[in-house]
Amino acid sequence: MSSQQHSLKPFNTFNLDRFAQELIIATTPEALSAAWQESQLRQQPVLLIGEGSNILFLDDFQGKAIINRIKGIAVKEGAEAWHLHVGAGENWHQLVKYTLEKGLPGLENMAMIPGCTGSAPIQNIGAYGVELKSICEYVDVLHLATGEIERLPTEACQFGYRDSIFKHKYQYGYAIVAVGLILNKKWQPVLSYGDLGKLSPQTATPQQIFDTVCQMRSSKLPDPAKTGNAGSFFKNPVVSVEQANAIMAAWPDAPRYPQADGSVKLAAGWLIDRCDLKGFAIGGAAVHQQQALVLINQHQATSGDIVALAHEVRQRVGQKFNVWLEPEVRFIGAQGEQDAVGVIA
Ligand code: FAD
Ligand code: EPU
Repeated sequence: MSSQQHSLKPFNTFNLDRFAQELIIATTPEALSAAWQESQLRQQPVLLIGEGSNILFLDDFQGKAIINRIKGIAVKEGAEAWHLHVGAGENWHQLVKYTLEKGLPGLENMAMIPGCTGSAPIQNIGAYGVELKSICEYVDVLHLATGEIERLPTEACQFGYRDSIFKHKYQYGYAIVAVGLILNKKWQPVLSYGDLGKLSPQTATPQQIFDTVCQMRSSKLPDPAKTGNAGSFFKNPVVSVEQANAIMAAWPDAPRYPQADGSVKLAAGWLIDRCDLKGFAIGGAAVHQQQALVLINQHQATSGDIVALAHEVRQRVGQKFNVWLEPEVRFIGAQGEQDAVGVIA
């Protein structure tokens, strides 16, 4: 019998045919902790997975994959806000729908983001003008070695653009088991992004925003159930104002988003598009036609095809603009996470 029996195909939205030595579904913090501790005793690598929508498997995983399916949604009404306690294994988009059905608005701009609620704090998910950090009250983190659960208030999570403490100090030896959300009863529509600007701030409803976001997303992002992908493959690069000005001088239509600290965020999709890479393919992997920031598994791509394509995209953008893109997607090798920039450089 092969030691690589457990398919990871249902657990990575790139739909790559990869395997893990062992795979367990954990529905409680105790089960998660026990599975991790057992692997520690055997010095076996462990990988936590939600829905695998931000993961690229480079290889078969020579260890235990733990799929987090801790469920449960509890809602408490406060004087000024609704407080939600959500199990880490709850699907994010279903949660967005559930809150709207219950008349608890605030998550509508973040509709259709794949993945588990427990993964949302890790890269501080964001879309259409709203980031998780603005509605997150706390994150419950399990210390896997001891089984203790620590509650981190939002201020302690070090949320940034596609960043948090869960990519740094709390990356290894910890699992997110629940997320606390706070939805203000004084709801304000956020209409700053794209077609949302066509809605009126006076009359826009949460459901209209939800529908508009779903339409915009469906028009440019591929559905992983049909075409494997992990959303934006790269982060939008943040550069100095001098570098942004140099790019604007040569390409005045380049989108730019000034940041609070004086730096400037550029649109990676625009940079890739200007290199005429839409539709560009290596093996079974391709740059998506409708959104150049998304790399797709067009036709039975291998991990190597996707890595080679990411390398080529990074080189072409770097050579043209002297901006060196960094993956947003997490690269998982046989023993665990690898440095994604190192792999594609
Ligand atoms: P996974 O891919 O399973 O895991 C991601 C990382 O977190 C891995 O390193 C994993 O080991 C670790 N991890 C998983 N669970 C836990 C846990 N419980 N505790 C600790 N560590 C854990 N992102 C956005 O921000 N905005 C978007 O608009 C957006 N759009 C997308 C559109 C598409 C079509 C796709 C495919 C992806 C998109 N993404 C977007 C990226 C993705 O949806 C998010 O990163 C999501 O939060 C990942 O959730 P997941 O459960 O799939 O995480
Ligand atoms: N653009 C192009 N060509 C392209 C793609 C984009 O010219 O092929 C231009 C657009 O016209 C626009 C700008 O680039 O002026 C930005 O594009 P878009 O609005 O599509 O957003 P994005 O920066 O590419 C980010 C997030 C998405 C999120 C959307 C909406 C990152 C890395 N990506 O994409 O998140 O859904 O904004 O808020 O920040 C993800 O993280 O996986 C993800 C999908």
